[in-house]
Order: sequence, then C-alpha cells, then structure tokens
Amino acid sequence: MPADMNEPVPYLDLRAQIKSVRAELDAAIARSLDNCTFCLGPDVTQFEKDFAKFCGAKHCAGFNSGTSALHVALLLLGVGPGDEVITTPFTFVATSWAISYTGAKPVYVDIDDATMNLDPKLLERAITPRTKAILPVHLYGHPFDLDPVLAIRKKHKLPLVEDACQSHGAKYKGKTVGTFGAISCFSFYPGKNLGACGEGGALVTNDAAFAARAKALREHGSTVRYYHDEVGYNYRMEGIQGAVLGVKLKHLAKWTAERRRVAHRYHELLAGTPLQLPREAGYAESAWHLYVVRHPRRDELKAHLETNGVGCAVHYPIPLHLQKAYANLGHKPGDFPVAEKAARECLSLPIYPELTDAQIQRVAEVVKGFFKS
Ligand SMILES: Cc1ncc(COP(=O)(O)O)c(C=O)c1O
Repeated sequence: MPADMNEPVPYLDLRAQIKSVRAELDAAIARSLDNCTFCLGPDVTQFEKDFAKFCGAKHCAGFNSGTSALHVALLLLGVGPGDEVITTPFTFVATSWAISYTGAKPVYVDIDDATMNLDPKLLERAITPRTKAILPVHLYGHPFDLDPVLAIRKKHKLPLVEDACQSHGAKYKGKTVGTFGAISCFSFYPGKNLGACGEGGALVTNDAAFAARAKALREHGSTVRYYHDEVGYNYRMEGIQGAVLGVKLKHLAKWTAERRRVAHRYHELLAGTPLQLPREAGYAESAWHLYVVRHPRRDELKAHLETNGVGCAVHYPIPLHLQKAYANLGHKPGDFPVAEKAARECLSLPIYPELTDAQIQRVAEVVKGFFKS
C-alpha cells in the first residue's frame, strides 16, 4: 500500500498546480508589474492570439469572466427583450444569467441522461417564432452532440453559441470545440482546466466583425478613448491575468492528458460498483473538467466520502428551472425530469492533473467501502 494511502484527498488542489509553474508565473507577473498595463495590454493581446490558435479560431477577445463573454455573445447576435434563447437547465447558472442580462427569456430543453448535455432530440420542439439563438453547454468538459444541433440550427436559420466554459480543448469528432457555433465562450475561473489567478473569460469567433464589436463592448462601447458608439460595459481582462493565462496555456495539453489518465484510472477502479460512471460518447474527446458519477444515494455517499477525508462536490444540486431566481418562468418539478434526476444523483470526484495514482486508489477504496457497509 502506498505511504500516503490514508492521507485526505482534497477535491481540488490548486496549490499543486501553482507550485508546478510558480517560477514561470512569477516571471510573467513581474513583467506585468514592470510594464504596468493592468487592464488589457500586450499580455492579453498575446494570449488572445495564442488562445484563438489553440481553439482553431480566427479571433479571440479576452474578458473579465465567462459570464460577461456570454452576455456579449448574445448582444452580438442581437438578442434582447421579448426574445427567447434555448439552453439547458442543467448547467452553472451563469449560462442563464447571460440570457437574462439581455432581457430575453431562457427556454430550457431537458438533457440526455448519458452525457447530461442538452438532448438534441428535444431541441426542435422548443423553437418558437421568438427564438433568437441556441446556447447549449459542453458540460463537465464533454462536448454536446453538435451534428444534430447544427442541422436544426441550419434548418431554422438560428445562430449557435457554444458555452465552452468547462471545455477548453475538448474535441468533437476530432475537432476542438470553439468554432462549431457563431461564437464560443470560455471561463478562466481559477478551478477551470485553464484557470487565471483571479477571474477571466474569452469570446472566440471566426467572424471579424463580431470580434471587433466584442472588443468595443467590453471596453465601454468604445474603440477610440472617450468616444462611445454604443452603451458598453467594463468587461476587460486584466493584464496580469493575460500574463498568467499565457503561461498556463503552454501546459494545458499536458494537463488535459493527465486528467484523461485520472478519468481512465477511475473507470478501471470503479467498474463493477453500482455507480453510473461518466463515459465519453463515440464522437467525443472530453477535456475531463469534472468526473461526475451518479447514484440514487448520492447524499449518503457524499457524507461517507467526506467523513473518510475524500473531497467531493455536487454540480449541480438544483436545476435552473427550479431556482428561486427563475420562479418567474413558472416551472414546476417534473418539467425536466432527466435534469432533475441528474441533480439528485450527481457527485463529482476529485480530478486534476496532479492527482497521484495513490490518491486515485484511495478515492476508489473509499467509494467501494460505501457499498460494502
Ligand atoms: C457552464 C458555465 N458557464 C458559464 C460560466 C461562467 O464563467 P465565469 O465564472 O468565468 O463567469 C461557468 C463557470 O463558472 C460555467 O461553468
């Protein structure tokens, strides 16, 4: 048995990641302090170029969060009051916030039980004359099934926005997510696969006009200082975050491969347990942002893991149609049964590049112990 077999396993260990690139970060942040470009600036511009290339896209605009990038994406598509945007009820709430910020209404479509992403089979019936855009999420790092969504998008002439906030570098049929839709948005919240040392986000597109307007909207609606062509926002990426992300992007492919190692090891060790394990669909190469298992006794399992020093989390306990903030939409339990069941059963196990084999074994042993007791 490895020496650290009984050590607690944290759900997330950002310290380990920072430690592994500390010298590079120190140098990048020092450069930022020296050049004093704290809002946008050369490090952000360089990162935008590098991240666009990483996504196989022509343009990238750095933002201060994924939420603000999503908001601006919908503004670029002309979404506003009276419009509807189709999305998933099973995601982090920010996907829906972006719709609400424009004054439009989120219209939810239930999820597919296997991937927990928006179910394309249910998409078409949610389209109305008010539908202005489709905004599915590549949840947990796993791409949603793009081909059927793209076919419906084309038939109804609706723009698609990919919420790729959890899916940096995930692949659909061999191609990196980020350019399947008109616009894609990413989050660099610290715990994401590519995380800033603070908040950050990006809007990615192949459309030069969208990119130019996104850059104006993030900066008070201006391209020339103190000249404001439209109502804008302060959604700029900080210079230091651009510097940090530039460093970390160089390590992302290696880190994603490590996440894949962890996921595959869990698959091996947890096979044969009563858990429903996450599986990549045939079309998908997941970025393995989260490793989400499912079981009807989720709350008991969570308590068991925590009592035994294994960190875990629930993404997400309440689907968006049942959140208080969206009571005005008039939904009730049972409206999206697949999402509601997922919310009752899902449990995220630790997954990060630095997780050792001993830690993975420890997690698996504690999980198995739950089913023996
Ligand atoms: C699916 C999804 N959408 C949107 C966001 C919002 O990103 P941010 O936290 O950077 O605003 C997040 C991240 O938390 C997310 O996971």
